[in-house]
Amino acid sequence: FLGLQFHPEVTHTEKGTEILKAFCFDVAKYSGDWTAAHFLEEAKAQIEASVPKEAHVICALSGGVDSTVAARLVHSVIGDRLHCVFVDHGLLRKQEREEVMRLFEEELHLPVTCLDEEERFLSALQGVSDPEEKRKRIGEGFIRAFESFAEKQEQSLGVRPRFLVQGTLYPDVIESSPPPFLVKNSGEVISYAHTIKSHHNVGGLPSRVDFELIEPFRNLFKDEVRSLGALLGVPRSFLARHPFPGPGLAVRILGEVTREDADLLREVDAIFIEEIRKAGLYDEIWQAFAVLLPVRSVGVQGDGRSHNPVVALRAVTSIDGMTADWFPFSSDFLQYVSARISNEVKGIGRVVLDISSKPPATIEWE
Ligand code: XMP
Repeated sequence: FLGLQFHPEVTHTEKGTEILKAFCFDVAKYSGDWTAAHFLEEAKAQIEASVPKEAHVICALSGGVDSTVAARLVHSVIGDRLHCVFVDHGLLRKQEREEVMRLFEEELHLPVTCLDEEERFLSALQGVSDPEEKRKRIGEGFIRAFESFAEKQEQSLGVRPRFLVQGTLYPDVIESSPPPFLVKNSGEVISYAHTIKSHHNVGGLPSRVDFELIEPFRNLFKDEVRSLGALLGVPRSFLARHPFPGPGLAVRILGEVTREDADLLREVDAIFIEEIRKAGLYDEIWQAFAVLLPVRSVGVQGDGRSHNPVVALRAVTSIDGMTADWFPFSSDFLQYVSARISNEVKGIGRVVLDISSKPPATIEWE
């Protein structure tokens, strides 16, 4: 047999949806009765069946859509046996911890414990510059932080939380550990696909994890989770937030991560996002952020020579994160943001704009 591989499912494939519809409805005879409400009922039943009545559960919240909707869903089934945690790994954006904790309290009305884990993460990342190794160490850091929390909970509750809820999505799974393409008659599975990057919550997990994972959205895309969130009454302030990767600024500081670089990047990122909001562009953009590059460039400041790091600005539009286009800012906007960054953030030598789509690039740089 000869086969032709292409991607009818990505938004850039012309008539891709029609091809899939023809296959699903005309060839495979599916009825197309999947709805978000239907999914919700099944997901709730599954949680009820897999979590015993006396068991306690930890939910890892990131402040983003996926984990917030997952928390809402699991909470609607098991109530106070759910314990939500938010990890401050020292790689959050400026004011993110305060902002996210406020949103949880005031808008979601869910008790959330904030874990101060900067030391654990920054020391695990010291001297590490390989992107995959960084992701693995971060994945491990999260699990160890949840284990310490579980031990503390055991002392106060008398029972150790056995389950961990994560807002893992289908793209995290495919990019971390692609599905097999060929199962031989002998049952042997041969995968021809490559790991693109190990998402911290999937491919970046350590080999020993003392929790049973609950990942209700492992088969869904982000736009589907947003619809579920709306159905579950999750406030728009969460649903409309740009995605932020679990490894945070670690994948936006290329090479080794230091606290000083994280501080520098936080300042640049805050200016970029502030200007995007002021220009009324936040909701048009899927995700926007700054990246600190491991190169220095020569510049002139006053009468002197400078030799400082370069930052790249990245903003993309997308539907599900699987493909993306770079966002076409006006030149006035770019000029203003670049000037603000150069004037206000000491130690930045140059500002550049990333105009790559996905593919061939990915959204994040690492
Ligand atoms: P890429 O860079 O793979 O990003 O095109 C697609 C989307 O996934 C986010 N991303 C992650 N999210 N853990 C996460 O929670 C991760 O390890 C991770 N890596 C990438 C990225 O920000 C974008 O929204």
